[in-house]
Amino acid sequence: MARTHVMLSYLSWQLILFSAKPYLTDAAGGRWQLLQKSIGITAMHMQLLKNDRVIIFDRTDFGNSNLSLPGGKCRTVPKDCTAHSAEYSVITNTFRALFVQTDVWCSSGAVMPDGRLIQTGGFNSGERRVRIFVPCTGCDWTEIPNGLAASRWYATNHILPGGRQIIIGGRKQFNYEFYPKSSGAPNLYSLPFLSQTNDANIENNLYPFVFLNVDGNLFIFANNRAILLDYAANKVVKTYPAIPGGDPRCYPSTGSAVLLPLKNLQATSVEAEVLVCGGAPKGAYTKAKKGNFVEALNTCARIKITDQNPKWVMETMPKARIMGDMTLLPNGNVLIINGASAGTAGWEIGRNPVLNPVIYRPDNKLGSRFELQNPSTIPRMYHSSAILLRDGRVLVGGSNPHSGYVFTNVLYPTELSLEAFYPPYLDAQFSKLRPQIVSPPSQTKLNPGRKLAVRFSVAGALSRNRVSVTVVSPSFTTHSFSMNQRLLVLGAEKVTSLGNSTYEVQVTTPAGSGYLAPSGYYLLFVVHQDIPSEGIWVQLQ
Ligand SMILES: *[C@@H]1O[C@H](CO)[C@@H](O)[C@H](O)[C@H]1NC(C)=O
Ligand SMILES: *[C@@H]1O[C@H](CO)[C@@H](O)[C@H](O)[C@H]1NC(C)=O
Repeated sequence: MARTHVMLSYLSWQLILFSAKPYLTDAAGGRWQLLQKSIGITAMHMQLLKNDRVIIFDRTDFGNSNLSLPGGKCRTVPKDCTAHSAEYSVITNTFRALFVQTDVWCSSGAVMPDGRLIQTGGFNSGERRVRIFVPCTGCDWTEIPNGLAASRWYATNHILPGGRQIIIGGRKQFNYEFYPKSSGAPNLYSLPFLSQTNDANIENNLYPFVFLNVDGNLFIFANNRAILLDYAANKVVKTYPAIPGGDPRCYPSTGSAVLLPLKNLQATSVEAEVLVCGGAPKGAYTKAKKGNFVEALNTCARIKITDQNPKWVMETMPKARIMGDMTLLPNGNVLIINGASAGTAGWEIGRNPVLNPVIYRPDNKLGSRFELQNPSTIPRMYHSSAILLRDGRVLVGGSNPHSGYVFTNVLYPTELSLEAFYPPYLDAQFSKLRPQIVSPPSQTKLNPGRKLAVRFSVAGALSRNRVSVTVVSPSFTTHSFSMNQRLLVLGAEKVTSLGNSTYEVQVTTPAGSGYLAPSGYYLLFVVHQDIPSEGIWVQLQ
């Protein structure tokens, strides 16, 4: 409660400073707050857990960080008594060191249905590791040597219906595997699509964009095109056209992508759309290596992946962007944040930071979907990240385009800070519209395909037909891609007034197949006139 007051007074102060106009007609919105000047490590990978703590890590092989390991602990080869992982508490705005033993650099992960973070792979000592982080007080990493069937560096993970996760690709790995593996199975399945999309000496197919489609197949995008994979049968069931222009969108020509909010979930056939934004023109990486930093792509491409004959529809962003993060906001809009407008991902080869985030409104008419936001002051280049928090803010951290911690005499020093971006919906002027969830309590288990009543209060007048309930999965975010990011609009079947500014909205929880929403922890929000409540944690069964 105290923190809310601090936040509100901060917002009022900001309002005076910026003299905000109503944001629906405003060219720029949103606010920034520096949360921590330094957490001692750089937020290269981030995952929010069900206890409102964020697990953060960088890499163990680039020297001493600015955060000591407690209790005199050290890694031995090479000797390093500093931490390369930390746990950040959103509620108290504090952090503590964690002990990760092997190299987690450019790794991947996803949260299991029981709330444990399973992180996989990395570099050298870490390339076949599986690491487990249980969200409990004072807990730390445990590691499983040879937990993976193949070495995975720059792979993508996704949680599957049934509770396992799939781990796809990685450098020179044109295959996938599962965690946990089925007993007896070899656990290595070839995926020629990843070699077909591998540009010689450049790749452009790393950290593929993977989404669970509503039919249970996996949409996998690499370089400039995508397939639909029946992973159980190891069969490509659909091939999507290349994005017009054919420019690469995956690492090191790092764009980003989201599965747009899934809606009308009771329909016989639910539609799914993917949005890919930014990247670099063909050849940009080779040019950047030679000191020629070409302008990034300023286009997004949107496709209805459930269509019979899907086609990409192109849109133009207000700013060109490479290494941007795409974060689903509780009201179904997409935040595009971080990154640069020239060069590519890789050591020292990104230029011209893009300090302004952009909000994309998927339901607006083509041509009026982007809205520029107020800038940060901190460049977030290669190795930066962004994730949604339960209170609707977006946690932003990282940026280190150097192969060590470098704080001086470089264009973009290693960033150890954490910032929060406050999307315009957190402005104090909307406090009368903002719903506050009364029940169910946080951590409620929800069975699939059931009616659910969510009670909330709103201080001002309620616009009954502008209420909805959304659920968002917390993503594993690194290298501009949020693995496992998913938002479902549960809609609003009935809104009843209970008197005294309190209301009840009835929705139906997602069906039992797990294709719409694999079981696990989600953030649930009530959204009123585009203004989301603070979320509560729910566990979809
Ligand atoms: C990190 O530590 C180094 C060496 O002690 C110091 O020079 C630097 O200012 C510190 N950086 C930050 C951001 O705290
Ligand atoms: C109505 O809500 C206010 C503020 O939450 C509370 O103080 C009051 O007791 C409530 N009245 C009833 C009848 O529930």
